[in-house]
Amino acid sequence: MNKSLRIPLIAMLLIGCFSIMGCKQNKYTLGKLESQRINNKVATLLAQMTLEEKIGQMTQVRHFYDIGKGDVAAKNLGSAIHTQGPLPGKNAAEWQAKFTELQKEALSTRLGIPLLFGVDAVHGQNTYNGATIFPHNIGMGAAANLELAEEAARITALESQACGFNWVFAPCVAIPLNEKWGRFYEAYAEDAQLTTDLTKAYINGLQRHLNDSTTVLATAKHYIGDGATDYGIEGGSSSIANHEMMKRLIDPYKMAVQQGAGAVMTSFNTIDGLPMHAHKALITDTLKNKLGFDGIVISDWKGYSRFGQAAIINAGIDMVMAVDGDLGLFQNGLKKAVEENRVPMSRIDDAVTRILRQKYRLGLFKNPFPAKSLTTAIGIPEHRAVARQAVRESLVLLKNEDNILPLNKAASKIVVVGAHANNSGYQSGGWTINWQGSKTSYNGATTILDGIKQVAQGTVIYDSLGQGSHPDADAVIIVVGETPYAEFFGDIGDGKGKHQLTLSDSQQHYISHYASQGLKVVTVLVSGRPLVVNKQLAQSQAFVAAWLPGSEGDGIAQVLFGEYDFKGKLPHSWPKSITDYNNKFGPNYWDNSITPLFPFGYGLTYRPQDK
Ligand code: GLC
Repeated sequence: MNKSLRIPLIAMLLIGCFSIMGCKQNKYTLGKLESQRINNKVATLLAQMTLEEKIGQMTQVRHFYDIGKGDVAAKNLGSAIHTQGPLPGKNAAEWQAKFTELQKEALSTRLGIPLLFGVDAVHGQNTYNGATIFPHNIGMGAAANLELAEEAARITALESQACGFNWVFAPCVAIPLNEKWGRFYEAYAEDAQLTTDLTKAYINGLQRHLNDSTTVLATAKHYIGDGATDYGIEGGSSSIANHEMMKRLIDPYKMAVQQGAGAVMTSFNTIDGLPMHAHKALITDTLKNKLGFDGIVISDWKGYSRFGQAAIINAGIDMVMAVDGDLGLFQNGLKKAVEENRVPMSRIDDAVTRILRQKYRLGLFKNPFPAKSLTTAIGIPEHRAVARQAVRESLVLLKNEDNILPLNKAASKIVVVGAHANNSGYQSGGWTINWQGSKTSYNGATTILDGIKQVAQGTVIYDSLGQGSHPDADAVIIVVGETPYAEFFGDIGDGKGKHQLTLSDSQQHYISHYASQGLKVVTVLVSGRPLVVNKQLAQSQAFVAAWLPGSEGDGIAQVLFGEYDFKGKLPHSWPKSITDYNNKFGPNYWDNSITPLFPFGYGLTYRPQDK
């Protein structure tokens, strides 16, 4: 071979090799040298640790309940979280101060290993009253805008750091099979590719290079099969065949691993009769060994005492959400299990290695405290503008008879109906201010009615009870839907509970009442899932799926009145009958045994060619 050719050829081979490896890397993953440097530091620190200090690192507790003063140091704790309960303070500065106090306690220990502070910031830093609240994931799935999702995640990370957190338990990357599941809205879509693409965008938005004060560890959850249980029961059993489960649900986790997600949270459901928390084959053999996940596997709530003590650690869980009385049980139980060789020290060392690795990646040993300057960035107009764009792009137009939309801003009289029009708590769903959401409007948010009043130039009449008579109205906008729920509280089960697959009778009456007046009816559905609304669709001239838009409810009026066109497309097939839910897997469109009312990807626009 001509020598002059050899160099370029070698270079091409090297480039080829790195580019192949590169497909495993993303623009943010650590370089090889940086990773090696961190691994060396982790090994050096681990070698100094006692068993008690190691078990302490594997322990995560609530800052306000599971620990008393001095426990962070005395029990060598690795992480503290904020969940439903007493707030860390009255404002972001006080939230930061509270966590800084705990951090100083951690740094006062023999080895001074800093704490991770975790929070369920699943659609903005939604535990803080006044934060920017984005559409829940189902709306982000309808928008399917990857750059926008990454930007929403970046803002969520920043506002979480502003409150003192460096770890968020998001994104939920489930691919739900059944609208009866109470967490349907926490997932992006029924489609694996769309879910995988949004997983990548969201993790990159949260983490980026990880070592600056505005980024946080991401958590892909809940591994695996949370949305694939029989009858959509939260924490239920999944009798879907294991190979089917893996084929349909594993891709988002492969992407999370490729993007260097800091954590994966295990799921409450059982597969093959085995709780996912104790499923060694799926946690250790598949996620860690086969897919190469090098982050933290964190248990879910009370995972330790619920799913078997030594079993979940041996299965591969690295950190335990030791809440509700599990702290002593966990720490003493695990120490005893190690001393009795029921849990090998190698498993403990693997867990602690993963925990320390993420703390070094975050730069916590150098900068353990949040940046105080961020506290003024919560809910700023620039962030809300991004959330408002997400609202606009999440809306899906299912019907527009005689093109009655867009409405005329100069219309002399618009009637707005329903409690959901005037309640930013309702429009935001669960995991907003409170675990189960807010039944009232909250700080900084704009209701759908507010938005309509801002855009409409004529008279806007609000009829909260849907009983008015306005024969002279140019149009009536009826906002109906679900009241907030989270987790099993949103399960529909046998349909006799608080939530159902149809609208409530009173809301159905709103639409019938106004349709009977011969008015132009625009129905806006605020829900965490598609519902069976055939009759309401027939009674409405226009019908919009708005999902759970979050704090910027005015984004809806901007589209209804034509300032922006519809862009949203259905992230899920839309059901046509309750009977589609009679089988345990829910409306299974994959085998074409049933057809949806509207297919995945459906959505109308004002410009006919874009249908
Ligand atoms: C809950 C949820 C999980 C959440 C965790 C902490 O039970 O399943 O999504 O991150 O507990 O609140």
